[in-house]
Amino acid sequence: MKAITDVELGNKRVFIRVDFNVPLDKARQITDDNRIRAALPTIRHAIDKGARVILASHLGRPGGKRSPKDSLEPAGQRLSELLESDVILADDCVGDGVKKLVSGLKAGQVVLLENLRFHEEEEANTEEFARALASLSDVWVQDAFGTAHRAHASTAGMAKFVKERCAGFLVLKEMKFLGPLVKHPDKPYVAVLGGAKVSDKLKVIEQLLTKVDALCVGGAMAYTFLAAEGVDVGASRVEKDHLETARRILERSGRQNVQLLLPVDHLAVRDLASGEGKELVNQKAIPTGMLGVDIGPQTISRFAERIRGARTVFWNGPMGIFETPAYAEGTRAIAKAMADNRDAITVVGGGDSAAAVEKFGYASKVSHVSTGGGASLELLEGRDLPGIAAIG
Ligand code: 3PG
Repeated sequence: MKAITDVELGNKRVFIRVDFNVPLDKARQITDDNRIRAALPTIRHAIDKGARVILASHLGRPGGKRSPKDSLEPAGQRLSELLESDVILADDCVGDGVKKLVSGLKAGQVVLLENLRFHEEEEANTEEFARALASLSDVWVQDAFGTAHRAHASTAGMAKFVKERCAGFLVLKEMKFLGPLVKHPDKPYVAVLGGAKVSDKLKVIEQLLTKVDALCVGGAMAYTFLAAEGVDVGASRVEKDHLETARRILERSGRQNVQLLLPVDHLAVRDLASGEGKELVNQKAIPTGMLGVDIGPQTISRFAERIRGARTVFWNGPMGIFETPAYAEGTRAIAKAMADNRDAITVVGGGDSAAAVEKFGYASKVSHVSTGGGASLELLEGRDLPGIAAIG
C-alpha cells in the first residue's frame, strides 16, 4: 500500500478523505472528537509539505439531501482549533463555487468540503460524481478508516480518476494493528465480544473461531448463548431467532478446540428503568423476573485471566450497560485487563468499546483503539474493504 510519505505533495491539490462523522449533542456540540484528532497527523503532514489541502467527509445519514443539522461546520471549527489555523468551510463538495475555491487555494491552506452525503450520488457511487470529486484533486489520500467498508464515490469510486493514490497515517496505523489479526496473530490470541446482538456479530464470530484460542462472550449477546445451552436467563433479552445459530457456534468452538467462555455469574436487576432489585447472581442461571445488566466478578476474573495470558487481544462490544455507572464494572475491568497486559498487542474495535476504553481512561494504555466500528468488524470477518482496496 502506497503511503502518503511516498508521494510528492508540494503545491499539489491533495484531497484527503477523512472520517469526521463525529457524535454531536442537541446543541450541535461535538461530544467526542477522537476521529478528528486521529486525522491530524495526515493533515499536518500535508500542510507541512506545502500541499493545497482539500478535506472531505460525511456526517450522519442525510440521505442525499442538504440538512443543516448534518453540516460539517462544527467539525471544521474543531479542526481549526486543533490546528491553530484557519480552515475554510466550503458550502458544498462539488460545483463551480467549490472548483473556484480550490483553484484559489495556496500552499498549506486547508478547505473542508461540506457533507458529501448531501448528494445521493456519493453513496450511489456514480461515475459522474466520482469524476467531479476527482477533478478537484491531484492526489487522493485515503485516511477515512471508519468509512473504508463503504464503496462510495469519495471512499473508493474517485480513486481511479486521480493521478495518484495513497494511504494516510491513520489508515496505515489501523491496518498495521488490525491486519495481523486476520493473518498471523501472535498466539495465544483471545477475543472478547459483547454488545447487544449475536446476529450483528455472527460473521465475525465464525471468522474468529478459525483464529483465536479463546473467545470470551459477555454483554446481552451472552444471554442468547446461555439460553442456547438450556440455561434459564430470567427476563434477559434473548434473540429467539438465533438460538439455533448460537448452538451451532457452541458446537463448532468445541470441534475447533476454541475455548468459548460464557458468563458464570451476573449482575442482574428486577427493574431496568429504576435499577430496583439489583443483585449479584452467583450462578449461570438468572432467576425468573430478573434481567442481566453486567457480567459478575467470577466471570470478570475468568475473562481477565485469559487476557493476561494472551499475546494478542481483540475486544469489541461492552460487557453490560456500561453507560450506567452501576452496571459498568465488567466493561471497565476488561479495559483494565487489556491495559495491564503490556506484553500483548491489545486492539479495541471502534464504537461502544472505543468509547468505554476512553471513558475509563485506558485508551492510551492499549496498543490501538480503532476509529472504525463497522470497518474493523468487516475486516475481521475476512472481507476486503473497498476503501482500502481502492488505494491499490
Ligand atoms: C461510522 O461511523 O461507522 C462511519 O462513519 C460510517 O458511517 P455509516 O455507517 O453511516 O456509513
